Amino acid sequence: MVKIPENKRNVPSLFVCQDGTEVKTAKEWVDKRRPEILEMLRREEYGRLPDMSDVKVDIHVTAVRQGEKIMNGRAVRKTVEVEAVRRDRHFIFTFDVFIPANAEKPVPAFVEICNRGSMNCDPARELLSSFYPAETIISRGYACAAFRTHEVAPDYEEGFRTGFHRLFPEYADNRAGDDWGTITVWAWAASRVMDYFETEPMIDEKRVAVVGHSRGGKTSLWCGAQDERFAMAVSSCSGNSGDAISRGKTGESIRQILDRFPFWFAKNYQKYVDHEEEMPFDQHMLVALMAPRLVYTSTKSNDSWADPASEFESLVQADPVYQLLGVKGLSQWERPYPEQSLHEGHIGHHHKTGEHTMDDYDWDLYMDYADKHL
Ligand code: GCU
Repeated sequence: MVKIPENKRNVPSLFVCQDGTEVKTAKEWVDKRRPEILEMLRREEYGRLPDMSDVKVDIHVTAVRQGEKIMNGRAVRKTVEVEAVRRDRHFIFTFDVFIPANAEKPVPAFVEICNRGSMNCDPARELLSSFYPAETIISRGYACAAFRTHEVAPDYEEGFRTGFHRLFPEYADNRAGDDWGTITVWAWAASRVMDYFETEPMIDEKRVAVVGHSRGGKTSLWCGAQDERFAMAVSSCSGNSGDAISRGKTGESIRQILDRFPFWFAKNYQKYVDHEEEMPFDQHMLVALMAPRLVYTSTKSNDSWADPASEFESLVQADPVYQLLGVKGLSQWERPYPEQSLHEGHIGHHHKTGEHTMDDYDWDLYMDYADKHL
């Protein structure tokens, strides 16, 4: 028997299909309701990629380094270039992968969507930042890779002309309601890292987590929802249009996010400004699309803009899908107190006293959770 939590925010049901029929089995969820929700989020919120059939994507290693200079010999660093060509246009982004040098068999890995520039995910490891503690990740036996979102698509309004958008000049200043926003492109890039992992003998591509903070966390959840090769998605403080329920949310609203960042989303999303109750979806659906895979969110007590209560509520409301699929989801429906973590089920969470960021504390818990479940 699936236990349904109290629906205080009046979010749309995960189990009632668009034609009014009710999902009663795991098969109905997988075959019917899940694809319908995915399509709805694509059309109404994040936008869909253009037809990619004439885009040739080439992923190749441009450098391999090992030795004292690379994490004191503890890791192998591979620099990877992703080149996408369409007609006479091309665009490139790069990322670096670190693999434990002493690994004897393929290891699990983290992909970080780095929205804070090379200061915070320096491939040379001269600038160390707890936003991407690659040395610790390696010491714990994981591989890791980070790409910089701004190399993939600019994080400002520029009419969809540079980065990935360059490939599709016919869309510049000319996006239809359901065409892609930038978050969809960043998610596409994380999937290209996964493409590379599938070819890398020392990485176990069945045990890969995609991680992001804030706008990066919105992206990691959307990436994991679409690309089922990811066994786990981690969202730090992703708040509005990420892990937080929009109905009844405090802090940032859809109006406020679209005022400043309209290009992150499909134009259709504008319909819901001040009309959150009319949305046929809410963010618990984004979380539920991960089921039965692992999803982990973390929040900070002082991050009122993201709204920790609404962030937790999406996990509670997504839990019934995990139950339906026969796995333990969230270990409790009461909000945890700060410094408490919920690591029992396939929906993991921790809440921490502090500000809007992702740091060593969070990473240690992501890895504890991954050690247990991934
Ligand atoms: C802004 C934005 C948030 C976003 C955050 C971030 O505050 O309003 O939605 O999550 O930036 O990416 O740090």
